Amino acid sequence: AVNLKGRSFLTLMDFTPEEIRYMLDLAHDLKAKKRAGIHNEVLKGKNVVLLFEKTSTRTRCAFEVACMDEGAGVTFLDSGSSQMGKKESLEDTAKVLGRFYDGIEYRGYKQEVVENLAKHAGVPVWNGLTDVDHPTQILADMMTIEEHVAKPLNRVKVVFSGDIRNNMSYAWMYGCAKMGMHYVAYGPEELKAELDQQIIAKVQEVAKETGATIEISSDPASLKGADVLYADVWASMGEEAEIPERVKLLTPYRIDMDMVKATENSDVVFLHCLPSFHDFETTMAKTQKEAGYDIREVTDEVFRSKHSKVFDEAENRMHTIKAVIVATIG
Ligand code: CP
Ligand code: NVA
Repeated sequence: AVNLKGRSFLTLMDFTPEEIRYMLDLAHDLKAKKRAGIHNEVLKGKNVVLLFEKTSTRTRCAFEVACMDEGAGVTFLDSGSSQMGKKESLEDTAKVLGRFYDGIEYRGYKQEVVENLAKHAGVPVWNGLTDVDHPTQILADMMTIEEHVAKPLNRVKVVFSGDIRNNMSYAWMYGCAKMGMHYVAYGPEELKAELDQQIIAKVQEVAKETGATIEISSDPASLKGADVLYADVWASMGEEAEIPERVKLLTPYRIDMDMVKATENSDVVFLHCLPSFHDFETTMAKTQKEAGYDIREVTDEVFRSKHSKVFDEAENRMHTIKAVIVATIG
């Protein structure tokens, strides 16, 4: 039987397919229980701290609601309101917080930081996004696929279109490799060269064991047969200065109805981790438009179409994050 008590959740690469299956099943179960109004308070007496060095809506609120639903206490700290990083090292911060709390969530830049926290905290550490991974997002995406695609995960083809070397694209490679899925990173040739070859080799090794297919492609023919079309912003948090260059490079990879049609699957599901620049309602999209840059990674038409399951996906962040917390400290 799977037992994840005391484990950190830093990347899906650390987990077996059976362990990932266990977390997904638990998430489906916790969602059904919440819908039925059943609260077993399985985290009663526990306390959790959330450390954020980047902004967040979904991840922060998912952790907070998950804790509150199950009876745990929760503290939110950002780098502006704690000593973390500036006046106190991450190592010392981890050691102190590990004495107070039963689990620590961390969102920041380098993967080494979240690894270092886990090394020193003495309690489970959960990765809430780094520059190279976003594992809780992938659990929510897989859960959403299970709700909307009538196939087992190992027969599902996911095409990620855009900045194929960002955190979401790598996170998808890990998730698809582990669960025997078909992943296509669909983006410009220029970006292919920037992918970390050591990581790709590791991913391909896992794929060989599980029967997964991991492809990097700039060929529109690779859209054919997609079950899921996936978008993310073209410039991730902290990369705003890159916008002009990214728009030039990634405009052909904006998800529009022509791309949906190119999948030749009338039931293709559109997913996006969010937040999204699908219209010009945000100050960032507006300001960029005035400067001559259209940063929409997906059209409003696709975002609001019957294909789009992005708000089910966002809701599932909460159920899957709850599953991770319950599995590791419950
Ligand atoms: N998808 C996601 O991580 O959203 P937030 O940045 O709002 O947490
Ligand atoms: N690639 C995006 C994901 C946001 C959830 C970023 O890192 O900003």
